[in-house]
Amino acid sequence: VAAAVEPSRLLGFAGIPASTEDSVQVPSGYRTSILMSWGDPVLPGAPEFDHAGGNSADDQAGQFGDNTDGMALFHVKRADGSADPDRAVLAVNNEYCNYEFLLETGQAESREDVEKAKAAHGVTIVELVREGGQWRYVHNSRLNRRIHLETEMAMTGPVAGHAMVQTAADPDGRRVFGTVNNCANGRTPWGTYLTCEENFHGYFGAERDEDVPADMARYYGLSAAEDRYGWWRHDDRFNLSKTPNEPNRFGWVVEIDPFDPQSRPLKRTALGRFKHENAELVVNGDGHVVVYMGDDERGEHLYKFVSSGKYDPANDAGNRRLLEEGTLFVAQLTGGEGDNHAGSGRWIELSHGRNGLTVDNGFADQAEVLIQARKAAKQVGATTMDRPEWVSANPHNGQVYCALTNNKHRGNKDSQPLNGPNPRASNHYGQIIRWQAKGGDHTAAEFDWDLFLLAGNPARHQDAYAGSSNITADNMFNSPDGLAFDRDGRLWIQTDGDDSNTGDFAGMGNNQMLCADTGSGEIRRFLVGPTGCEVTGLTFSEDYRTMFVGIQHPTGGFPEHKEGGKPRSSIVMVTREDGGVIGA
Ligand code: FEO
Ligand code: CA
Ligand code: CA
Ligand code: CA
Repeated sequence: VAAAVEPSRLLGFAGIPASTEDSVQVPSGYRTSILMSWGDPVLPGAPEFDHAGGNSADDQAGQFGDNTDGMALFHVKRADGSADPDRAVLAVNNEYCNYEFLLETGQAESREDVEKAKAAHGVTIVELVREGGQWRYVHNSRLNRRIHLETEMAMTGPVAGHAMVQTAADPDGRRVFGTVNNCANGRTPWGTYLTCEENFHGYFGAERDEDVPADMARYYGLSAAEDRYGWWRHDDRFNLSKTPNEPNRFGWVVEIDPFDPQSRPLKRTALGRFKHENAELVVNGDGHVVVYMGDDERGEHLYKFVSSGKYDPANDAGNRRLLEEGTLFVAQLTGGEGDNHAGSGRWIELSHGRNGLTVDNGFADQAEVLIQARKAAKQVGATTMDRPEWVSANPHNGQVYCALTNNKHRGNKDSQPLNGPNPRASNHYGQIIRWQAKGGDHTAAEFDWDLFLLAGNPARHQDAYAGSSNITADNMFNSPDGLAFDRDGRLWIQTDGDDSNTGDFAGMGNNQMLCADTGSGEIRRFLVGPTGCEVTGLTFSEDYRTMFVGIQHPTGGFPEHKEGGKPRSSIVMVTREDGGVIGA
């Protein structure tokens, strides 16, 4: 664990106190404004958001979706190949929807309600321009796009065409409609966006328990009695009694060309099927593309994909196929006993015929290994983790960080005993792990790891629940989730935790964003979100003078505080009054 600390030279702002206000708080010298909120029109003909709830499913399909999450900004290239500093497209996930605000009765009672909910999910792509130092989105730009549950996509990689992804509507198993529960994201050096499908299981139900395939219930949590979204009652595609293979077409990383609104998004099955958080892509020294990924559920695992081909800046067509073929691995970690919190680990290959992934053990072929990645991970002895959320690689030294958000089952279930990287029972605060590939080679089988921090409450606890030494009464928080390094190597940490501000969480306030100097270990609170929200999603303009931050599922009046109006998930822009680099 990083020791505290001499004052950081990377962090140039004064940390702010915890807050329970229904507004966004930032350090002095900074200001915030709203880029876009749920329901803002993005496509031609789409109406303004109706606070009275009058927008239809068609309206929603032309508006910014709900529950803003992971996002990435791509500057437009000028004719000479340089990036236009003041023109960009933003691709942003719409993870799920809040029926209490989306639908009049708070539940889906008709096909129209289901269609509206489906249209509120997916991805929104909008053109941005900067004028006078201030970004805004362009209404009706030809680059604007809504991707939702009816957008045509292609399956690619080893699973494309497999019997387990064939349906009556798609007997070839290659043409899928839509993406769902798009949580966090990634981006590629060839200019595409990666959107990651997380809790896909919650959209499917069945008329009888026996219509849910046993492995899908056991490993992925699918159940007949799904009652959160109710889509399966109105749309047979989500009814396992009618369309049993449809859920196998979700749970993937999807690659999107943000500059071509006509392009088909591509489901990248070689990266495995689980409840994806984000996809952190690094180009290894030898050109192989490596993607680190977390599977966010209690006791699930960390994964790594290594491309077969190599990145070549001069070969755009080749780069665009790099995520089609490669090898998937899952992490096994050892060591870290006692207070040491450091150890070693290895990546175990998830390839059919190896490591017990055989027909005898229930894997017919490589496609089944990928569709059943969780089952495969358990077969090979992967380490159970405390809900792996975002992964981010430090651009300066190749160290890779992952937020392990919390895990109430740790130490309380036989399948999830305490272990080195997940050392606390009933872990309600979370920790951040980091690892370094052997020899700096991201394709290497071995790595060394340690815990960068253990979150906690030093005002209430003197034991392990006080957190690591870099956690103080002034910067404490719980449930780290979003993680991203900026160009200078500042590590930004976003939280999705208990915002009750009482008991074990007293003094932490609303969900928030912190900034860490990973060299010194120092952590300062940078931003606090409004009532009820989580803070999730982060990207920057290329000059790092505007930061875009997602405020998801606020429950007060944010952002408009309109009498009788609805709270709306929104993208907030953070700038400095002196126009400087954020955080510096
Ligand atoms: Fe959608 Fe694991 O957060
Ligand atoms: Ca998350
Ligand atoms: Ca979370
Ligand atoms: Ca969320």
